[in-house]
Parts: sequence; structure tokens; C-alpha cells
Amino acid sequence: MKNNSVVIAGGGSTFTPGIVLMLLENLERFPIRQIKFYDNDAERQEVVAKACAVALRERAPEIAFSYTTDKKEAFSDIDFCMAHIRVGKYAMREKDEKIPLKYGVLGQETCGPGGIAYGMRSIGGILEILDAMEKYSPDAWMLNYSNPAAIVAEATRRLRPNSKILNICDMPIDLMEKMASIAGLTSRKEMSVRYYGLNHFGWWSDIRDSKGNDLMPVIKAHVAKHGFAGAASATEQHVEQSWNDTFAKAKDVFALDPDTIPNTYLKYYLFPDYVVEHSDPNHTRANEVMEHREKNVFTACHTIIEKGTAAGGGLEADVHASYIVDLATAIAENTRERMLLIVPNEGAIENFDPEAMVEIPCILGKNGYEKINMGKIPRFQKGLMEQQVAVEKLVVEAWVEGSYKKLWQALTLSKTVPSARIAKLILDDLIDANKGYWPPLS
Ligand code: NAD
Ligand code: G6P
Ligand code: MN
Repeated sequence: MKNNSVVIAGGGSTFTPGIVLMLLENLERFPIRQIKFYDNDAERQEVVAKACAVALRERAPEIAFSYTTDKKEAFSDIDFCMAHIRVGKYAMREKDEKIPLKYGVLGQETCGPGGIAYGMRSIGGILEILDAMEKYSPDAWMLNYSNPAAIVAEATRRLRPNSKILNICDMPIDLMEKMASIAGLTSRKEMSVRYYGLNHFGWWSDIRDSKGNDLMPVIKAHVAKHGFAGAASATEQHVEQSWNDTFAKAKDVFALDPDTIPNTYLKYYLFPDYVVEHSDPNHTRANEVMEHREKNVFTACHTIIEKGTAAGGGLEADVHASYIVDLATAIAENTRERMLLIVPNEGAIENFDPEAMVEIPCILGKNGYEKINMGKIPRFQKGLMEQQVAVEKLVVEAWVEGSYKKLWQALTLSKTVPSARIAKLILDDLIDANKGYWPPLS
């Protein structure tokens, strides 16, 4: 088996410790000789890195470990870059969420105006990392789950069409774990699915067990009553009350098309008024995350550094993030595993824009992915997707061309925004808030 060298970009991320511990639990199938962290915030990264260094020394001293803000050092001699950066960090996420709410529009990390603003910040950050990886390790693969993945993926499709980047999302992973448990299975790996859509904007159209039995009826019966609420999953990530509400709301999203099972993110596009009514404009998800996940992770890191040992806990392996190992192993060891990826459509959804980035099942191996054809999709989904993909493409065009008009059009076209007037008010506030992060627009 190949002995891999991995750089984690966004070394200071709240997800980094969970991913490092998860990697350690998977060394048998994905051997690692070196782990490096890269971040552009030296101070934030150092806390996470020093704690992880303690854990690594205790559990796998044979793995070389280093952390840096220098691109050459970070991206030389690597096989994989696992990327989870958040350009602007939580301070900017908070603005993404609160500015639209001032105008009665929902505030969300990746959907609507907030997601558009985040996209305008992320494109440059991701391109920088991708370029550094290609310069110093031309054969490496970038496994990207930095958000907003839909916009990042469209940007790299357009601007770096030959790059070895794979964009992936963990929402379907958690939902498939839940559906497996609803169907009485122990793992999502016992299911084979058909799924189509955009990132954070898709539907399952078929779910079978390993013998080919149709699991849709039993899963639909649960979702029709409870959404995804009450279904078990190994993830520690989506467990707070706000997530429970999202899982429960999937019941109403499902009612719109009981032939398919929806991704939870569709609630933001199909029930935006409900979301606004249930939002506190002074306390959004960014605040929750800062008060819980960020605080807990950094407190645990400081404790580990002080004590000089990671024994006694504080940091946990992020079990559900093992999908990243599935992806890396598929490439390193040619496992031919079937996974959902965000890829150029090019006919995989027959009646949809060939140049759209779509989320569909793919077979993964040494040479990348092969797409599984999803055939024709129904009018309802197609109509929604056409509107949303136009938003995503306009954002990337606005970034490339520095076009105010295209970004205004993108906001206006978003199903979450009621009018061009409101779109302009939000846009002008977002431009102010994002000085130094967005290219100048005219
Ligand atoms: P975080 O703010 O804790 O961590 C992000 C890190 O990225 C920070 O340390 C920050 O300094 C760093 N960073 C920002 N800009 C950078 C740049 N240009 N170059 C290098 N490093 C940079 O955020 P988090 O909550 O841990 O989330 C990290 C990312 O993972 C986010 O984009 C989030 O949306 C994403 N995420 C994606 C999925 C998915 O399904 N695709 C799931 C979970 C999290
Ligand atoms: C899911 C999505 C991610 C998103 C995350 C937000 O996992 O797939 O793309 O970043 O939720 O979670 P948070 O806890 O930061 O609100
Ligand atoms: Mn996601």
C-alpha cells in the first residue's frame, strides 16, 4: 500500500483535530508517513497544531508532523491536500448571516446572499492553494470540502479545468447514515443510491440495499412523518437544536415531491419565509458555532498543550469524516468506491446544462472519477436547479470580471431574495463588509 503524505489546509479549522484523530484510526487502509498543516493565520493554527502534535507523538510517533504558513514548505512532497478553509473566518460568517436578515432575507452560511458573499471570498483562497499544490506537488490531489462548495467548484471548473481537485460535501453522508438506520441497516455503505442536484440542493431518487431491494418505501414513510428527525447517525457534528429543526423540516420539503427524498438544505429555498420567522437577527448559527464548537475545540487544545498529554479526552475522532479517507483511499488504492461528488455535468443529467457543476454518484479510482448517468430529471427539480445554477455561475462571472451588475443579478435571481431592490440593498451592505476580501466591483 502507498504510504501517503497529506497537507491539511485550514490547519486552524475546528474540524482539524477530529480529522487528524480520524486519520489515525484509519491508518490500516490509508497509511500516512507525513502530516502537515497549512493556514494563513499562524496564531490560530499553532494552537490546533501543538495539541495535535501531542496526540500524534502519543499515538503515531512514526508520522512526521509539521505546520507552517509557508506555501512551499506546506505543499512540497505531498500526495493529498485536504482543504477546509474558511476565508474571513466566523467573524465574516456572522456578517454573511446578519446582513440579509436586516432586510428580512434569510442568513445562511452557504445559501442565499450569505453563501454568495462567502463564495466571493472563497474563490481566491482556494485558487491560491490549488496553484501552490500544483507548483510544488504536481501529481497531488486536492480533496476540497471548503464552502461554499458549489461556487468553489464552479470557479475551479471555469478557471482551472485541468486541476486535480475533487469537491465533496458531508451533508449527504450524514443523511445517508440516517436513512440506513431508518431502513435497519448498520451503515450507509450497505446502500446504493441514485442522487442528483447541485451542492446543498439535491434529491435521492432511488435507494437500494446490497441485494437490490428497494428501500425508498420505508425511508419515505419515516421522512413523511418525521423528516430525518429521530434517525441515528454516527456524526457528532449535526446535533444541536437548530440542526434538529432542519432535520424535522425535511418533512415539509418532502411533501412537495414525495417521489424523491430531499437534501435538508432545500428548506432554505422552498421555505425561506419560515426560516426568517425562526431566525434571531442578533444571534445566528455563526454565534452558536463560536459559543460551542469553536470554544470547545480550542479549550480542549489548550488543555492538551498544558498537560502535555491528549489522554483523558477533550478531542474526539470525527467518525463521519471518514468519508474523506474513503475518497483518498479510492484514489491511492483504486478501490472503485461509489461516492457523491460535485462534478461537471457533461450529459450525466441528460436534460440539464452540460456546463453545470452537479452533485451525482461517481465511481472513484486511481485516475479520478467516472460519472454515473442520472438520466432525465423531473420539471420541478430542473426548474429549481436552473435558477440556482445561474446564481452560482453569475457569482463566478462577477468575481472574474469584477462586475457589480452580475453580482446584483445573482442576488436578484436567488430564490431566497424577494426583489431586485432588496437584492441591491443587501449587496451594497455586503460590499462594505467584504472590503479586502472581494475583488473591487464596478
Ligand atoms: P474555521 O474558521 O474554524 O477554520 C477555517 C480555517 O481556515 C481558519 O483557521 C482560517 O485561518 C483558515 N483560512 C482562512 N482563509 C485561508 C486561506 N486563504 N488560506 C489558508 N487558510 C485559510 O472553520 P470551520 O468551521 O472549521 O470550517 C472550515 C471549512 O470547512 C468551512 O469552509 C466549512 O464551510 C467547511 N465545511 C464543509 C463541509 C462540507 O460538507 N463540504 C462540512 C463541514 C465544514
Ligand atoms: C453541513 C454541510 C457543510 C456545512 C456544515 C455547517 O455539514 O454539509 O457544508 O459547512 O453543515 O455546519 P455548522 O455546524 O458550521 O453550521
Ligand atoms: Mn456541505
